[in-house]
Amino acid sequence: MCGIVGHIGSDISSDVVLEGLKRLEYRGYDSAGISFLSNKNGLQLYKKTGKLENLLEVLKDVETTSNLCIGHTRWATHGGVTDQNSHPHRHGNISIVHNGIIENADELKSEVVDKDFEFKSETDSEVFLALVSKYNSQSSSFKEAVAEAFKHVKGNSAFVAMNAETKEIVAIKRSAPLACGLNPKNNDKFVSSDPYALVGYASEIYFPDDEVLCHLSHDEKIIKFYDLNLKESEKFQHQKADTSSSSTDKGEFEHYMLKEIYEQPKLIQELVQDYIHGKAARHLAKVKSKEIDRFLINACGTAYYAGLLVVDYLELINKIQASAYLSSEFRYRNPLFQKNDAALFISQSGETADTLAAAELVKENNIPIYSLVNVRGSTLYRLCDQNLLIKAGTEIGVASTKAFTQMALTGRLMAASLGGELDDESKKKNLEKKFLLLSERINDLISGVEKIKEIAESLYNKKGYLFTGRGIYYPVALEGALKLKEIAYVHAEGYASGELKHGPIALIDEEMVNIAVAGPELLEKTISNIQEVKARKGIIVTIGPENNKELMKISDYYIPLNFNGLDELSPIYVNVVHQLLSYYMAKFKGNDIDQPRNLAKSVTVE
Ligand code: G6P
Repeated sequence: MCGIVGHIGSDISSDVVLEGLKRLEYRGYDSAGISFLSNKNGLQLYKKTGKLENLLEVLKDVETTSNLCIGHTRWATHGGVTDQNSHPHRHGNISIVHNGIIENADELKSEVVDKDFEFKSETDSEVFLALVSKYNSQSSSFKEAVAEAFKHVKGNSAFVAMNAETKEIVAIKRSAPLACGLNPKNNDKFVSSDPYALVGYASEIYFPDDEVLCHLSHDEKIIKFYDLNLKESEKFQHQKADTSSSSTDKGEFEHYMLKEIYEQPKLIQELVQDYIHGKAARHLAKVKSKEIDRFLINACGTAYYAGLLVVDYLELINKIQASAYLSSEFRYRNPLFQKNDAALFISQSGETADTLAAAELVKENNIPIYSLVNVRGSTLYRLCDQNLLIKAGTEIGVASTKAFTQMALTGRLMAASLGGELDDESKKKNLEKKFLLLSERINDLISGVEKIKEIAESLYNKKGYLFTGRGIYYPVALEGALKLKEIAYVHAEGYASGELKHGPIALIDEEMVNIAVAGPELLEKTISNIQEVKARKGIIVTIGPENNKELMKISDYYIPLNFNGLDELSPIYVNVVHQLLSYYMAKFKGNDIDQPRNLAKSVTVE
């Protein structure tokens, strides 16, 4: 949550920071701001509530040429969404931006901060500014002041502090994402919450460890790292910048979400190429080399629902016991570990705070940790013993779509590797065929999207929505409901079909919609559950097999799918229907689909 960008070097600072903020807007869009040392007018601060475009409007006629700048996009935690609470915060020559929570802010405010410091906001972040300002007047260097201030703050945070007088930037973090970048050709130096902001600018990327000061100045040719006692530190990782990031414009699509839904058939084919025929297969083999009796799967949000499908795959295909946990719960529930346990962490961003905390907890217990992750070089990627990249490309829409598909399928490939399917030519061919069939079917589904659009138009204003599914379709009932809630702002719940009569059936009336998945597995039982809703006058949308006359008769709306040959991959196919239904319902409601209210794509606070 919250996006941070900073730059020092040539006269491109404000442009780089604003471009970086545009790329990081997925991290929060309550407000945006920049502080820069103008070549003409000294230190400047501009911040504005709402999306980045509001800030850009304010900056339209401002002379922004500068070689020192920091910026921020906010997802509000402490303090309402106001211009004053937006970042950066400034005092004299010092400006700061912050991502995270200062847990002892009130205590510091009353006990450590100078009494005459004039607070301008209600944020915890400004307390850090007050501390840096206090220690700056007592220290021999700016980095010493930042180190002193940082020693006082509790909680997980990343801070970037800029001094317009001494012309330097100091950044530091504890359990929050932070990366530095360098372009040695022109001595440009950068800092950001996500190296994605630096693509095309920096060729070298550095990930500092916790509590390591990153020092960026005009004078040095490199970025310097220090511990809190200001001794030079080597506690950082270095990698070449990833230039393979997929195209990030919307192309012909109205929204990123739609573009990302449409990308799925091609991504599935690429996954086959990489993992069945290509170099990525060796990563699968590494997971196989361990003796594993039980998998503990951890994730949040959509990734957790993909995890539920991976549980099904591991149990169905490998007969390995597996359980999926919400990381926010797992980390506080005193989990019991056993010999031959392995843990699998699933995350698109690789930066979700709860998922990372759960991974650290498991690691401390000497359990091997694996990931299904999208972002190479992310914190999760660096933490895990072995990573299986889900290869979804950059996902910009806040509501996750293609990442779900790729997570579930990479999990299926992991199960295939563990079960020896990939060592047997004919089994391998069958699996490949199934993946390619899925890609083809999703393509066909997308071509016939008009029907789903019509259903969405008739239903987007109903009272509520129950997504139901049995067995392997249960995880996608949960994911379907989440998607609809996220972008259409309606009440939706995912339920196991057989559980309806244990409570939620009380909600059914003629204004309540049941989106029922009726896959080939346990079909008769699912039909009975649909009948129960029908008898209570609920509106039935069935996603079922082609030509099932009985189901067509009892359904108000019928979405026929060709399930043949897809077997355990069919929930992923069904889920694309859910994605499209949600997309069009949100569109008919006129909502902001790519940046839904109150959400952020990367949740870096608890
Ligand atoms: C946020 C996003 C969700 C995502 C979840 C987990 O809540 O809005 O779309 O599923 O975080 O994110 P991760 O990056 O760990 O997959």
